[in-house]
Amino acid sequence: MPPVCLAIETSCDETAAAVVRHPAEVLSSVVSSQYVHAQYGGVVPELAARAHMELLVPIVRQALADAGIPAAGVDLVCVTHTPGLLGALLTGLPFAKALAFGLNKPFVGVHHLEGHLFAVRLEHPDASPPFLAAVLSGGHTELLLVRDWCSYEELGSTLDDALGEAFDKSAKLLGLPYPGGAALEQLARAGKPSIPFPVSAPTRDSSASASAERRSANADSETRSSSHSTFDNRHSTISLDFSFSGLKTAVLYYLRDHPDADRADVAASFQTAAVASVVNRLNQAIDRTGFSTVAVSGGVAANGFLRERLADLAERRNLRLLIPRPGYCTDNAAMIGAAGLERFLRFGPSAFSLPAAARTPLH
Ligand code: KG4
Ligand code: ZN
Repeated sequence: MPPVCLAIETSCDETAAAVVRHPAEVLSSVVSSQYVHAQYGGVVPELAARAHMELLVPIVRQALADAGIPAAGVDLVCVTHTPGLLGALLTGLPFAKALAFGLNKPFVGVHHLEGHLFAVRLEHPDASPPFLAAVLSGGHTELLLVRDWCSYEELGSTLDDALGEAFDKSAKLLGLPYPGGAALEQLARAGKPSIPFPVSAPTRDSSASASAERRSANADSETRSSSHSTFDNRHSTISLDFSFSGLKTAVLYYLRDHPDADRADVAASFQTAAVASVVNRLNQAIDRTGFSTVAVSGGVAANGFLRERLADLAERRNLRLLIPRPGYCTDNAAMIGAAGLERFLRFGPSAFSLPAAARTPLH
């Protein structure tokens, strides 16, 4: 019988718990978003931690009840231990350890970005690496080569703001409440993309070049011997990194210089430029690697306009597009459970001494 886990996520402002059976069967998934932060225009770390403390027990109880499984019936406990707000991680992590210890079950710490990648498996249980993946969230914008589950190579990432951060900051400039990504999408539906905001295209400087060469040199034999063409970044002059701070600043200056601008047009123009940047990078990564399967996840992948443009790209380039339903794109614990189960089966349990960490690269 495949193992069943109880998974917990408290890295930011969602308190979530889920029960998942390996590899991708979601028996329950409960997500509680904290609205207390809206009045401050961003997540207040201490308030997030306090809200997690209040919500953890009822949310975990709800997840077990929805799954129809007693706590003693789970085989392991999985939890996000990095990256995220330290105070928020320091609620869910010790809670999960104590629960596992009390139940005499193993415990597995999960990298939040790896969780976002495994959301793809929840939606497409047959997804099989290698493939290209973009994780687009409020804190990260990563272009990855998934060599195998639990084995990744970074092809590019943001040099400044994350894509979700750019949505949230632009939404704030447009007077929308935090977190503004979904509200900006809603506003953009009523507008025209008539303002030519810049589509970022960082070129390779020497440090990017060095890191690209390092990435290329690290490409493992599995990737090289796959049926796809070998990834080789060494001779390219185009970076696969992202930059969104210029776009956000362009929105700031446009609104300053055009106080009577139609806000819906500004939202639609921002969204068009931001999404074009993602589509361009994916296009370049496909050219460079020869991969024809592309996974996109993370909170911003819930955006309907982005999903449409990705579907266009997939049709144009004959790609298999793997994209989770919106509820698995934004933070949830089911994705943490899917990642934790795979890690447990491959590498065994985590040590109970595993610390929380605000930042850890995904490797
Ligand atoms: O993955 P996620 O739930 O949390 C992090 O790990 O950061 O991503 C949250 C981000 C926020 O910036 C939020 O505004 C953005 O995803 N987001 C959206 C949409 N839904 C959530 N951005 C654009 N359009 C959306 N529909
Ligand atoms: Zn996330």
